[in-house]
Amino acid sequence: MASIRDIEGWDGAMSSAKLIRYEPAQFPFEKVFCRMFRMRDVSRLHRAVLAKKRTRLGPEAELGYRDSKAMRDWMASQAADSAFYPIYHAFVRLVLAPFFGGKLSYPQRPRFRVHLARGPGVSDWHRDTDITGRFDQIAAWIPMVDCRGTRSMWVESDYGKADHRPVEVRHGEVLVFDSGLSHGTVANESDVTRVGFDLRFAPLPAGAGVDRGILARRPEGFEADRVVVNCRC
Ligand SMILES: [Fe+2]
Repeated sequence: MASIRDIEGWDGAMSSAKLIRYEPAQFPFEKVFCRMFRMRDVSRLHRAVLAKKRTRLGPEAELGYRDSKAMRDWMASQAADSAFYPIYHAFVRLVLAPFFGGKLSYPQRPRFRVHLARGPGVSDWHRDTDITGRFDQIAAWIPMVDCRGTRSMWVESDYGKADHRPVEVRHGEVLVFDSGLSHGTVANESDVTRVGFDLRFAPLPAGAGVDRGILARRPEGFEADRVVVNCRC
């Protein structure tokens, strides 16, 4: 049975974010990802990627943005044939939807994420609303490792503050937050690769206001302030 709680340690709009706790054994995404990469532990993925790169380019080669991106693309291409999607849809129905009025509009395919250990940041600072133009959506971020510090996602505490700092989210938790707050990543200085996925969803029917207050603190004129951007995210 999933449970929801307020995030701790944040002021401003980010204090409205929530953490949903679920049982990883019931939704074994990590096992599916291990099978995709034919590894026992996907948090060690950087070792295999770097070894392969150094065989090709020499001992000085380091991990770059494209290495994380290639792994993410690999996940997206593999997932269609994997056990991922039945688990994903059950996860949305049983873990997310009950806390947001029971019915959600959500993507059939989420975005997969890979942030290789010792690799650079994988997304620029951005607001999802600038990219999507969707102001009714809530973001759900689901990592397969405990996240803090440089391997986590960084978020600003309030709209326009740009005081980005890392969120603490454990494996077995979903961060639900307003991705209209600026967010992104920095170089992963830890020895742990973060693999996971995220999605944006909207409670149905539209306008019912079942957002648990997550979108409620946007300043006046927030939608009019949209700046259309094209960024790595
Ligand atoms: Fe984003």
